[in-house]
Amino acid sequence: MKSEVLPQIGTIACVGAGVMGHSWATLFALHGHRVHLQDIDDEKLAQASGWIRTAVDLFAEKGLIKKGEIAPTIGRISHTTELDEAVEDADFVMESVYEDYNVKKQVLKEISEVAPKEAILASGSSKLLISEIQKAVKNPGRCIGAHGFNPPHLIPLVEIIPGEMTSDQTVDRTRSLMKSLGKVPIVVKKEVSAYLGNRMQYSVNQAARDIVESGIASVEEVDLAMSTGLGLRWALYGPFMVSYFNTPSHLIQRYDHSGLVADGLEDHSMLKGKTFDDLVRWRNSKLIDILRAVDRPLSIDSETG
Ligand SMILES: NC(=O)c1ccc[n+]([C@@H]2O[C@H](COP(=O)([O-])OP(=O)(O)OC[C@H]3O[C@@H](n4cnc5c(N)ncnc54)[C@H](O)[C@@H]3O)[C@@H](O)[C@H]2O)c1
Repeated sequence: MKSEVLPQIGTIACVGAGVMGHSWATLFALHGHRVHLQDIDDEKLAQASGWIRTAVDLFAEKGLIKKGEIAPTIGRISHTTELDEAVEDADFVMESVYEDYNVKKQVLKEISEVAPKEAILASGSSKLLISEIQKAVKNPGRCIGAHGFNPPHLIPLVEIIPGEMTSDQTVDRTRSLMKSLGKVPIVVKKEVSAYLGNRMQYSVNQAARDIVESGIASVEEVDLAMSTGLGLRWALYGPFMVSYFNTPSHLIQRYDHSGLVADGLEDHSMLKGKTFDDLVRWRNSKLIDILRAVDRPLSIDSETG
C-alpha cells in the first residue's frame, strides 16, 4: 500500500496563554516554528509576552541560543484574542485552557470547525479522558492528548494519550513533532485519568501529606527529604532502577518488598551492555555533578577547591 505523505508541521497555534501555554509557545518558537498564541484575556496575553521574553533571554544568558536569536525567536510568536485567526492556518494546535471538560470540549469543538482538516488538535489536559473530549471534535481521529510538565520548554517528558478514536497517524505525527523538539514522548498504552506521571505524583503527594498529618515530620522536612534524597536519584532514573542499584540481585531474584516488581528490568535500556560496576561509577559521577549544580557540593569540595 502506498503510504500517505504527511504534511510537515510548520505553524502551531497555542490556545490558552497561561502557565503552560506560554511555555509551549516558547518551546515551539525556539525550534523555529511560527506560533499563534491565543487567549480570551488580553491581560493574560500581555503577561505571557513578558514570561516568554524572560524565558528566551535566559536561554541566551545560558548560552543555549545566540543573543542575536532572541528577537527572531520572540518575533515568531504572534498574539491574538481571536480563535479563528490563531488556528486557521495551523498544522498543530496545542490547547492549554482551563482543566474542565466543558471548557475543553467547547474550545476544541470550535477549533475543529476552523483549523485545516489535517491539523492535529492536541489537548494539554493533565488528567481528563481524551476519549470524552474528542466526542466534541469534528474529525476526532486527529484529537490527542499531549501532556507536558511545567515548564514544558525545559522538562523533556511529554505523555501522549490517544483516545479511542485517535488515529495511529495522529499518534505518529505527534510523537515525531515532540521528538523534533528534543522532548521525550511516552505513549500511554491504556487511557486512564491522570495518565502516568501525575498518578505517580499523586501517590507521593498523598504520602507527604500523611507524614505531616501523622506528626512524623514537618512540611519543610518532607520537602528536604525529597530534594536532598529521593529526588536527586530520580533525576537520573526511576523507581525500578533505584531498586536495582539498592539490590542488584533483582535481575535474578524477583524483588517486591517495596511493592515494586522487577520483572522487565532485564529489558531496561540503561542496563544494556553495562556491568553493575559501570553503572555505579556513572551514577556516582552524575550525582557529584548534580550536587554541584544544585549548590549542595560534597563537603570535601571546599577543601580541595
Ligand atoms: N500548571 C501546570 O503545572 C500544568 C502541568 C501540565 C498540564 N497542565 C494543564 O494545562 C492546562 C492549562 O493549565 P495552566 O496551568 O496553563 O492554566 P492557566 O490558568 O495558567 O492558563 C489557562 C489559560 O486559558 C485561558 N482560557 C480559558 N478559557 C479559554 C478559551 N475559551 N479560549 C482561550 N483561552 C482560554 C485563560 O485565560 C488562561 O490564560 C490545563 O488543562 C492543566 O491541567 C497544567
